[in-house]
Amino acid sequence: MSFTVAIDGPAASGKGTIARAVAARFGFAHLDTGLLYRAVGARTLLGEEPEVAARALRAEDLDNEDLRTPEVAQAASRVAAIPEVRAALVDFQRSFAMRAGGAVLDGRDIGTVICPEADVKLFVTASAEVRARRRHAELVGKGHDVTPGQVLADIRERDARDAGRADAPMVAAEDAMHLDTSTLDIDAAVEAACAEVARHR
Ligand code: DC
Repeated sequence: MSFTVAIDGPAASGKGTIARAVAARFGFAHLDTGLLYRAVGARTLLGEEPEVAARALRAEDLDNEDLRTPEVAQAASRVAAIPEVRAALVDFQRSFAMRAGGAVLDGRDIGTVICPEADVKLFVTASAEVRARRRHAELVGKGHDVTPGQVLADIRERDARDAGRADAPMVAAEDAMHLDTSTLDIDAAVEAACAEVARHR
């Protein structure tokens, strides 16, 4: 039997951490759908057409630490506004969601477009300042040379583009449970998410 958990929210909201923790707790598979757009974005930075890159994408392409840079994140956000790119990635995400044994997918449009029938939907937020502080610490830890101001500007630009696009904009599903991780620490957010999953299982 399939069981799908949809987790959406903006960059550095904590949705990835929550998704991984829920998957580990319940033995579900996890797909970070941002990696699909990052992999396509990375290929456009090398000169490939976004629609062609999206159609050629393989699961192996997602396992790459080089996708976690600010340049690739911006490229991902740009290609994510192209309807043909999004359309090329739907089947892969839906089959992942329907796998036996349960699946957690995190992204921007999982509860609204990819899995509108998901068993559990969460929308994870935090203020842009809190998210920028987290992402800055993470990037500096990995050796990137960025200022907090650059990270905040970057996050604001992506938020505006991701929420403002016509096709599958970032928005909470009507039936999503909201978790604000600027007021809730990450352990409390994980516990709240797991309790919500347990309630529906
Ligand atoms: O979650 P992330 O920061 O790795 O995502 C990178 C970009 O990909 C994000 O700015 C918007 C896009 N994205 C999307 O449009 N839909 C998704 N389901 C996941 C990511």
